[in-house]
Amino acid sequence: MHIKNEISRIRKNFFETVKNIKSVEQLLNIKSVYIGRKGKVSRLLKSIPELPPNIRPEIGKALNTLKTEIEAKLKEISLKFQQHGKGAGEIDETLPGIPFYSGTRHPLNQVLEKIADIFFSLGFSLVEGPLIEDDWHNFEALNIPEFHPSRDMHDTLYIEGHKNLLLRTHTSPVQIRILENNPPPLAVIVPGKCFRRDAVDASHYPVFHQVEGLWVDRDVSFSDLKGVLLGFAYRMFGDVKVRMRPSFFPFTEPSCELDISCTVCGGKGCSTCGGQGWLEILGAGMVHPNIFKNAGCKEKWQGFAFGMGVERIALIYYKLKDLRDFYNNDLRFLEQFR
Ligand code: DAH
Repeated sequence: MHIKNEISRIRKNFFETVKNIKSVEQLLNIKSVYIGRKGKVSRLLKSIPELPPNIRPEIGKALNTLKTEIEAKLKEISLKFQQHGKGAGEIDETLPGIPFYSGTRHPLNQVLEKIADIFFSLGFSLVEGPLIEDDWHNFEALNIPEFHPSRDMHDTLYIEGHKNLLLRTHTSPVQIRILENNPPPLAVIVPGKCFRRDAVDASHYPVFHQVEGLWVDRDVSFSDLKGVLLGFAYRMFGDVKVRMRPSFFPFTEPSCELDISCTVCGGKGCSTCGGQGWLEILGAGMVHPNIFKNAGCKEKWQGFAFGMGVERIALIYYKLKDLRDFYNNDLRFLEQFR
């Protein structure tokens, strides 16, 4: 009989198809094809009233049995999926899972945060200044007049059409801006991007980062400067030797540079320290009286300032050789700083 054949064909098809189910999606799809509202079985059930009355009970029974079988089989498969997850039967549960990729903070940011934490613990707060500066704040007010030789090291990029606007070459101009707007006493650090017209090599990049420091009060002395900077060096680099050398900066007087014993060779001399045994980590000094004057401070203040390159500190901290690695965005490099 025609309809009986159809029922057994549907049963055969269903049990064939069901062997290949690989996902829950497929399972749901097959369910709807066979016993969904418009499925093969449901369609036949609905057509029963059109059959000759004498065969209706038999066909009805056969269809209901088939429907029950299909439901039971689908339920069995669905349970397997629940126990083993998607793609049951295919999965090798002994394999390691797919790792979830989590990002990392950039090594320069990690070092910057470490620097900032040390100064926060000493009572410094954090301020920022503009990346586009005027000639006055970047140079003149810092005691660097137009033809001063120290401008030679600060070749930079000027803003087209604005003779006096440039990308700041250091964070020191923020010293002036803070003093213009905030009456001392104050103690701040100023992290941020700086720009110079430098060729790219292992230790130069046209964009880099500095952290400036400024502490101004009535009687801040050179010994305060020494205490703060030595404390910083020990907490940043651990068990190192530290030395201060006289130096020159137009905006500090006297000026010095701070060196630590080479973290690679421990001071014996190697390629990292150029055989010297020492690594320079920052410049500093007592704030020059002209700085207070140029910032419009009327009262008598004393203070010290310092400035360090974040890339340089990071290279020393991580014992790396080439600052270009910080900017190449190579995940194999960056992922090592978890
Ligand atoms: N601004 C200097 C530079 O970029 C670094 C510096 C040296 C900053 C001495 C200071 C300082 O505040 O006291 O080379």
